[in-house]
Amino acid sequence: MIPRTSSLPKPHGGVLVERIRVAHPREYDHLPALELDERAYADLELIATGVYSPLEGFMGQADYLSVLEEMRLTNGLPWSIPITLGVSAQDAASYRKTVRLTKDGRTVGLLDVEEQYRPDKEHEALAIYRTTDLAHPGVAALFARGDVYLAGTVQLLTLDRGPFPEHHYTPRETRQLFQERGWQTIVAFQTRNPIHRAHEYLHKVALESLDGLFLHPLVGSTKSDDVPASVRMAAYKVLLELYYPQNRVLLGVYPAAMRYAGPREAILHAISRKNYGCTHFIVGRDHAGVGNYYGPYEAQAIFDHFRPEEIGIHILKFEQTFYCVTCAAVVSPRTCPHDTQHHLVLSGTRVRELLRTGSPLPPEFTRPEVAEVLRAAYQTL
Ligand code: ADX
Repeated sequence: MIPRTSSLPKPHGGVLVERIRVAHPREYDHLPALELDERAYADLELIATGVYSPLEGFMGQADYLSVLEEMRLTNGLPWSIPITLGVSAQDAASYRKTVRLTKDGRTVGLLDVEEQYRPDKEHEALAIYRTTDLAHPGVAALFARGDVYLAGTVQLLTLDRGPFPEHHYTPRETRQLFQERGWQTIVAFQTRNPIHRAHEYLHKVALESLDGLFLHPLVGSTKSDDVPASVRMAAYKVLLELYYPQNRVLLGVYPAAMRYAGPREAILHAISRKNYGCTHFIVGRDHAGVGNYYGPYEAQAIFDHFRPEEIGIHILKFEQTFYCVTCAAVVSPRTCPHDTQHHLVLSGTRVRELLRTGSPLPPEFTRPEVAEVLRAAYQTL
């Protein structure tokens, strides 16, 4: 067979960052320890494995302000969400040089502290989330963290593949897998929800013209009423087994925390998936949104702020999809001539309500085998 040259996109900024050092964690026992919460640990891993290329550490103030004001790093590259590490003002005094980063007391990484600064959190909330409302889960997380940001390069000492190790790939590994499979065009799908038929439709429309689907659910922190990742993973596996061509799909997990920053988060999601080696990224209705903070298509419009080559991954934009009883198919306003009375649309809140009360999800909305996994899980939750 003639080997095909790789058509995978270059990582953001040109080089895949990898900052994993093989060392015995006890070597660093003499350094001050900084315990990471789940969100901060996820960011450490995402930086160190290159998902956040070209970042090599937690952002300093110049990059932080540039991201807030310009949606760019100081070197001009598009970047939409600050990646920062907050500690209390009291603790900050003991973190002046190299610190060891711990998770549940175990040393997992190192941070060379180069800078400390105090963010204006109200300003950050308005720039990133467009609100200071503490009912917004991203804003609540921002205000709950320490008031001093530590900046500097990081190293990861052990890669913890978490609760789904067989689906936990680094960008180096996915790039390798895509090449082994001979996929030249790969569409990534971000999700924090079970896959309903509307999502499946987006995948299959994309697969009509692209080589592979990287189903990439976010499994880091989500708000408490989102469906837990373990339940979703069980549902994804059943769906893929029964309704997708096995050789055209890869299921991987995205370890990041959910920010619910809508448009700004869509850009981060797209750039991260480029770093995993994907060529296309789906942005549908209200991507990464919560409540009514963002317009349904703002997460698509925000990409117009950049030249396509600056983003470096094709954005596949979809309008809202739903089941139309008259068409007897999943459709969108672009393909269906019938009015809304013919359409079956269930909000996330309504779906969770049905699950909590043990009511069945309609088969037009969710594949029966997926509905059964969800129903069984909600009975024991
Ligand atoms: S998200 O927070 O991860 O964006 P979700 O898992 O609901 O939430 O959505 C995953 C992706 O599918 C997003 O790009 C979203 O815009 C898109 N999407 C979800 N439901 C629909 C729908 N009914 N029509 C069109 N796009 C949708």
